Amino acid sequence: MARWLVRTAFNAIWMPCSYHFYTLVSLAMATRHLPVVGGHPVGAVSTLREDNWWLGPLVTLGVFSGFVVYVTWAALQGEHYYADPYLSPFYSPVVYTDLTAQGAAPVDHAWFGAWPAWWPGFLPASPALFILMFPGLFRFTCYYYRKAYYRSFVGSPPGCSVAPITRRGYKGETGLMLFQNLHRYALYFALIYIPILYYDAFLALSKDGQLGIGVGTVILFVNASLIAFYTFGCHSLRHIVGGHDDCMSCGRNTIKYGIWKRVSWLNARHMNFAWPSLFWVAFTDVYVRLVSHGIIHDYNTWN
Ligand code: FES
Repeated sequence: MARWLVRTAFNAIWMPCSYHFYTLVSLAMATRHLPVVGGHPVGAVSTLREDNWWLGPLVTLGVFSGFVVYVTWAALQGEHYYADPYLSPFYSPVVYTDLTAQGAAPVDHAWFGAWPAWWPGFLPASPALFILMFPGLFRFTCYYYRKAYYRSFVGSPPGCSVAPITRRGYKGETGLMLFQNLHRYALYFALIYIPILYYDAFLALSKDGQLGIGVGTVILFVNASLIAFYTFGCHSLRHIVGGHDDCMSCGRNTIKYGIWKRVSWLNARHMNFAWPSLFWVAFTDVYVRLVSHGIIHDYNTWN
C-alpha cells in the first residue's frame, strides 16, 4: 500500500513536469530555427520536416501537366485514333466518324454514322471532344487526385505539416472548388465506360472476320481492366454499395456485404490503380496512333 502511494504520488508530480519540460525544450529548439506560432512554423512552405516531402508534389505536378498536355493534343487530332481492329480509348465510343480523316474509325463503328453537317467549322472534327469530358471530370473530382493536385498545384498545403502557400481569397472546396461535389454523378458516367472499353477489347479479337489476337488486343484488355479496378475502388461507389447500414458486419452473408468488402479492398488501393490506369490509357492511345501511322508494327496472329 505504501509503495503504491509513493509511486502514485511520484507519477502525479513527475509525469506532468517531464511532459512540460520536454515540450518546452522542443519549442525552444524549434524557435531557434523557424518562427513558430502555436508550435508550427509559419510562412509559405515552411516546415520542421527533414525528409524529401516536396518530391511527391513535384512528380505529381510534372506527370499531371504532361498528361493534360498530351490528352489535349490527342483529342484535337481527330485522326489516327483507329488501327484496325484497335480503337484508342480517348475516342471510345465513336459518336460520329469523319470519313475524310486518316486513321479514323469505319462508319459501322460510329454510333451515329458519318460526321454531321451541323458541326461548327471552327471546331476540329474529333470524336474525342464528345467523350473526354466525362472521364476527365471523373478523374479531376476524384478524392485521391484532389489530394494530389491540391498539394502540387495549389500548395494548400503542399504536404502534411508543411505550411500552405498563402493565397488571398483562396477558399478551397467552399468556393470555386465546390463543383467537386459532382464526383458522385461523374461516377455514374464512368461506370458506363467500363463495358464500352471491354467491348472495344473484344472487338480487337477479330479482324476481317478472322478471330485472332495481337499486342494491341492485350493492351486494350489491360487498359479496360485498370480503369475498371480504378473505378470500382471509388470512394463514392463504396458509399453507394455500403451506405445506409450502421453495422456492416451484422450482415456478413449478404451479397451487399460481399460487394462492399471487394470495393473496400480496391478502395484501399485506389492510388495504386489511379496512376497505372492514367499511364496506361495514354500509352494505349500512343500505341494505336503509332500503329495507325505505320511507325511501329503490331505483332498479331492475322499477318
Ligand atoms: S474517389 Fe477516386 S474515382 Fe471516386
